[in-house]
Amino acid sequence: MIQIKPLIIAHRGASFDRPENSFAAFKLAYDQGAEGIETDVHLSKDNVPVLIHDHTVNRVTSQKGLIKQFTFKELKQLDIGSWFDPIYHTERIMSLVDFLQWAEPSQLMINLELKTNKVNYPEVEAIVYQSVEELKMLDRVVFSSFNHLSLEKLSQLNPNTYRALLAKRHSSRLIKLSQQLNLTGIHLKQRAINLITTKKYHQFNQYVGAYTVNQPNDLRRCLRAKCDMIITDRPGLTIEKKELFLN
Ligand code: G3P
Ligand code: MG
Repeated sequence: MIQIKPLIIAHRGASFDRPENSFAAFKLAYDQGAEGIETDVHLSKDNVPVLIHDHTVNRVTSQKGLIKQFTFKELKQLDIGSWFDPIYHTERIMSLVDFLQWAEPSQLMINLELKTNKVNYPEVEAIVYQSVEELKMLDRVVFSSFNHLSLEKLSQLNPNTYRALLAKRHSSRLIKLSQQLNLTGIHLKQRAINLITTKKYHQFNQYVGAYTVNQPNDLRRCLRAKCDMIITDRPGLTIEKKELFLN
């Protein structure tokens, strides 16, 4: 079992200060003391798992098209930093394997969000699982998705994987689903969380993560609600404020 406490997880890396899902964002998250990193996974045309949020390259590069229409070699040529600030023009889409190999020597916990709600990526669960397994990192990876079918597939591959369903809000259907799928936890939109909600999951030994907590007031509310994981674009500020609020 991974260690559950109010872990501070950098959302798409330290994405408030660096281009999201870039190596610069991941490195800053680590330097700021984040306990983990959340990132989003899609598949290239040649089935390489890559780290980018959207299912297209449109927003963060100067090109247009679906991720799955580009080979990894083609994706690697795209600049994913300039949209944020031209000083980051050398940032490139990372493969999942390159990212995991970078994180491996650290203590970082990794949250891989499988983006399977808009585009169909056949076998993405097995491909991602295999990458993590080969690097012997299953003990510190939480797989998450808004698509419960992806979590079901992961459970079939290995019922001991750590799995968390993403949802905008709590509902009685969600709590039933999280038990049926034997989930490790649930990642809820931070505004939807209160102590009553977290208790419902804690009674089934499931942890509650909150996304995306960028403001100190929201952090204070999530701490009072006994969230176990805080997913934030601003790990540096969040760590500083967490220590202040908990002491
Ligand atoms: O995993 C939490 C959060 O990343 C889910 O939403 O759209 O930022 O990937 P999104
Ligand atoms: Mg995400």
